[in-house]
Amino acid sequence: MKNKSMHALTPSQIVNELDKYIIGQTEAKRAVAIALRNRWRRQQVSENLREEILPNNIILIGPTGVGKTEIARRLAKLAEAPFVKVEASKFTEVGYVGRDVESMIRDLVDYAVNLVKSEMTLEVQEKAENLAEEKILDILIPPLRKNPNTNENVDAEGNNETLQNKKTREWMREKLKNGELDKKMIEFDVNTQNGLGMQVLGPFGIDDLGINFQEIMGNIMPKKKKKRKTAISEARKVIAQEEAQKLIDMEAVQKEAIERVENSGIIFIDEIDKVAGGGKGSGPDVSREGVQRDLLPIVEGSNVNTKYGVVKTDHILFIASGAFHVSKPSDLIPELQGRFPIRVELKSLTQEDFVKILTTPENALLKQYNALLETEGVKLEFTSDGIREIARIASEVNEQVENIGARRLHTILTTLLDEILFSVPDKVPASIVKINAKFVKQKLDSIVKDRDLSKYIL
Ligand SMILES: Nc1ncnc2c1ncn2[C@@H]1O[C@H](COP(=O)(O)OP(=O)(O)OP(=O)(O)O)[C@@H](O)[C@H]1O
Ligand SMILES: [Mg+2]
Repeated sequence: MKNKSMHALTPSQIVNELDKYIIGQTEAKRAVAIALRNRWRRQQVSENLREEILPNNIILIGPTGVGKTEIARRLAKLAEAPFVKVEASKFTEVGYVGRDVESMIRDLVDYAVNLVKSEMTLEVQEKAENLAEEKILDILIPPLRKNPNTNENVDAEGNNETLQNKKTREWMREKLKNGELDKKMIEFDVNTQNGLGMQVLGPFGIDDLGINFQEIMGNIMPKKKKKRKTAISEARKVIAQEEAQKLIDMEAVQKEAIERVENSGIIFIDEIDKVAGGGKGSGPDVSREGVQRDLLPIVEGSNVNTKYGVVKTDHILFIASGAFHVSKPSDLIPELQGRFPIRVELKSLTQEDFVKILTTPENALLKQYNALLETEGVKLEFTSDGIREIARIASEVNEQVENIGARRLHTILTTLLDEILFSVPDKVPASIVKINAKFVKQKLDSIVKDRDLSKYIL
């Protein structure tokens, strides 16, 4: 089983997909698209050369709120590849209290195991549902006993009922299938792990040993059966789920997961600038450089122990990102810099970008608010001059107070719509609320003019 979707997307298709959610930032989109496609290309190369081809790790550089994290998130969805996002500033040097950098690999494998498991569950779903149906029929129709003399099926009165039973079963199956029995209550057995279903909490750091504590405990403790009584519609789901679990080969899942992590895993390291040198001399710098040194072998390629097995990190794609306000990429230790050969700068967003961000992406903010209020029977109508005004105010506040990029649109919209969001549904102002430039000015102008106020509110 290979990653199918990745094969399909060419670099330009990847950019097109990203365009649906992210405005502008063409250069960054191109860079990640090429990196993603290169991994697919690498998979096609003959084996001896394949090992030599290293991923083009990328550093995205740009001010806050311009789409760095968003690009990485959307990319991971597109690739359907194992993906984790970590924050460099959360890590501490080995030996200090905090997360060590290898935990990102363990997280990635966990993610991949879940991903593969749910894919495989989907594959066995139909089979599992059929098995569940048989089980339910077994419960509904009491099983036949064998007549010890003739070896034929008999019922309690000793009548031969094989044929009759078969008919009843098919009749029941029909009823079961078309949902007539959904509400009927039924009692059935479920397996409960660890008897009490309690969480086994390992001692701190047990994960570091690469031991699956849960699984060991699960194997030691006997599986217990428990009776459950639910409606048939629910029982069907529960039993099918149990059957699916039995049908899945967990060893194969783990193997596949590790293979995917090694060949198509993506790790997004956010806030890499926070561990870059910068100001010299102060205490925490030592630990920052320590984190970089710890990162080095992982990015460079090494073996990491996880509870599912050893993972080779050589071909994992790393995308780092940072605002680099204070420090510069060149403040990173040279060895680490060398491992991120591609640097792309993301641009500050303009007023025009804001207009587009508000309206065009599939998850655009205005669409979100519209959908929210539609549930209450209120329609928001943003006129184009209203939208322009919101965008204008966003860039003005960004310039005057602090540039937080597109995040500013969130704060402005919550303030702008505060009254409507609060009064609906108790007091519906109108079934269609028009939001034009006048409305926006009225609501926001006084706040924008008062810089102290906008600092707090917007
Ligand atoms: N170019 C863009 N197009 C569409 N939406 C954007 C764009 N840039 C940012 N956004 C939106 O703004 C919010 C913040 O963006 P994102 O998380 O990508 O910021 P970032 O660049 O990672 O910032 P930081 O450096 O603070 O982590 C998200 O909700 C995102 O959808
Ligand atoms: Mg970010």
